[in-house]
Amino acid sequence: MDLSTHYLGLKLKSPLVPGASPLVDDLDVVKRLEDAGAAAIVMHSLFEEQISGEMLATIYHMELYADSYSEALSYFPHGDDFALGPDQYLEQIRCIKETVDVPVIASLNGTTPGGWTKYARLMEQAGADALELNVYIVANDPQETGEEIEKQVIDLTRHVVQTVSIPVAVKLSPFYSSLANVASRLDAAEVDGLVLFNRFYQPDIDIELLEVAPTLRLSDSSELLLRLRWLAVLSRQLSCDFAVSGGVHNERDAIKALMAGASVVQMVSALLKHGPEHLAVVRDEMIKWMQENGYESVRQLRGSMAFDRCPDPRAFERANYMRSLHSWHRGSAESRT
Ligand SMILES: Cc1cc2nc3c(=O)[nH]c(=O)nc-3n(C[C@H](O)[C@H](O)[C@H](O)COP(=O)(O)O)c2cc1C
Repeated sequence: MDLSTHYLGLKLKSPLVPGASPLVDDLDVVKRLEDAGAAAIVMHSLFEEQISGEMLATIYHMELYADSYSEALSYFPHGDDFALGPDQYLEQIRCIKETVDVPVIASLNGTTPGGWTKYARLMEQAGADALELNVYIVANDPQETGEEIEKQVIDLTRHVVQTVSIPVAVKLSPFYSSLANVASRLDAAEVDGLVLFNRFYQPDIDIELLEVAPTLRLSDSSELLLRLRWLAVLSRQLSCDFAVSGGVHNERDAIKALMAGASVVQMVSALLKHGPEHLAVVRDEMIKWMQENGYESVRQLRGSMAFDRCPDPRAFERANYMRSLHSWHRGSAESRT
């Protein structure tokens, strides 16, 4: 079975890749992931706040601008909240490169073009084969328009793309008024790939303690549906590659994502639940399913369920929406008879 795929100009032995998470902080786990068939390693993110925080902290300690920055500094998570500081992060890239033979994708997480993006270049120099840029922006300022936020995403991406010569993928959120337009502008800005999607931090409320309770729930397969839809809509219309992130837990999820147009399937929650060896289980089950269903390669699967360019996308969506609502009425009428 030929599981090979191309992603960000890299030839990968399979589409199965552990997504960004702290799993890769431990080199033993990194090795286990490679042994279980990881086709590349995506590192967890280095955050803009870690880098700028360090810059600000330096100024702070020089007691030059302490008053103007002390409020900003108080918002930053403590240094110990991050497993690796910026310099350790670069060192970790070197260590992972020495540990595994598969490509290593570093991850940079931020929102504004600025001095911190020099770390993109430093990641490249440390040996990263590609870069994943996670643009985690929550639009919670009522004065800020969607257009301004989108411009920020595009400007930051352009800046990073121009800073490095390795391929760049952007990990996006689904929450844009026109996701298709943002994706297409990123494609025009020459990103090599889009990762669909970021998951958003959704804090809960502890009603007895009257506290905001931070939560980090692992995903399940139901989260994949939103990704499938957008992969299917975008993958044939844009020239960049696509990776799915969110809701891939088993071989059926992986196959669906490939059929919708993904070149790479990233997994985090499933590996945190079942351990790195789960990657090998998914790969073996995928091969079994492909053999039973007459497929010889991932190439045959990829994009087979993606939408072709549609002359009237809005009418197409409305028709599908009406059909799915209508199917419930039909189903419930049938179950009554
Ligand atoms: C514990 C944990 C840490 C994560 N850290 C990062 C990170 O540093 N950068 C990033 O882009 N995504 C991070 N993610 C998000 C994952 O890469 C992934 O997008 C998300 O978990 C959805 O995929 P899944 O359904 O396979 O878990 C993290 C997720 C978890 C659960």
